[in-house]
Amino acid sequence: MKSRALHLGRAAAAAAVAAACALALVVASAQTEPRTVRDGVFSGAQVKRGQRIFKTICANCHEIEEFTGPGAYLEEHDGKPLWDTFDFIWSNMPDDDPSSLQPAEYAAVLAYLFSVYGLPTGGVDLPIDRKALEAITITRPRSPGG
Ligand code: HEC
Repeated sequence: MKSRALHLGRAAAAAAVAAACALALVVASAQTEPRTVRDGVFSGAQVKRGQRIFKTICANCHEIEEFTGPGAYLEEHDGKPLWDTFDFIWSNMPDDDPSSLQPAEYAAVLAYLFSVYGLPTGGVDLPIDRKALEAITITRPRSPGG
């Protein structure tokens, strides 16, 4: 009787470990499963932060339309991984002081650009880690009704 109780205890422990592993897998794949910028990958709060940063820093040299307008940067980068753009602006911008912002600030500026471009906000911030950003593809906003 004693040994049977022990056996059941081990089985329960094994089941708990298996459940924890399955959960960890689900969380990891949710961050790296292929998505596009249409899938609500940035938050409204992040857009507001990004707007402030764009206006105080980027707008010294850029018009928003250079990125969001017809035939502009985001359209040119259709189908490219978001990581490429994040890495570019993080490494090169502001042109007079590259890498001077926090990664989260670059992510916020991108969220602002996407919002102006016409893409929908979601419940969570755009991530800043490479794997997650490599899994998100830049694409055009859905055309109205489409
Ligand atoms: C001091 C001026 C200056 C500031 C401030 C600045 N940029 Fe730039 N940016 C440039 C110049 C000049 C280029 C073109 C040269 C190059 O591609 O390296 C450029 C190019 C870019 C490009 C590539 C455009 C293309 O068509 O390939 C992006 C994206 C960009 N900037 C984003 C930003 C963002 C976001 C900010 C704010 C965090 C910012 N820049 C701040 C001067 C600036």
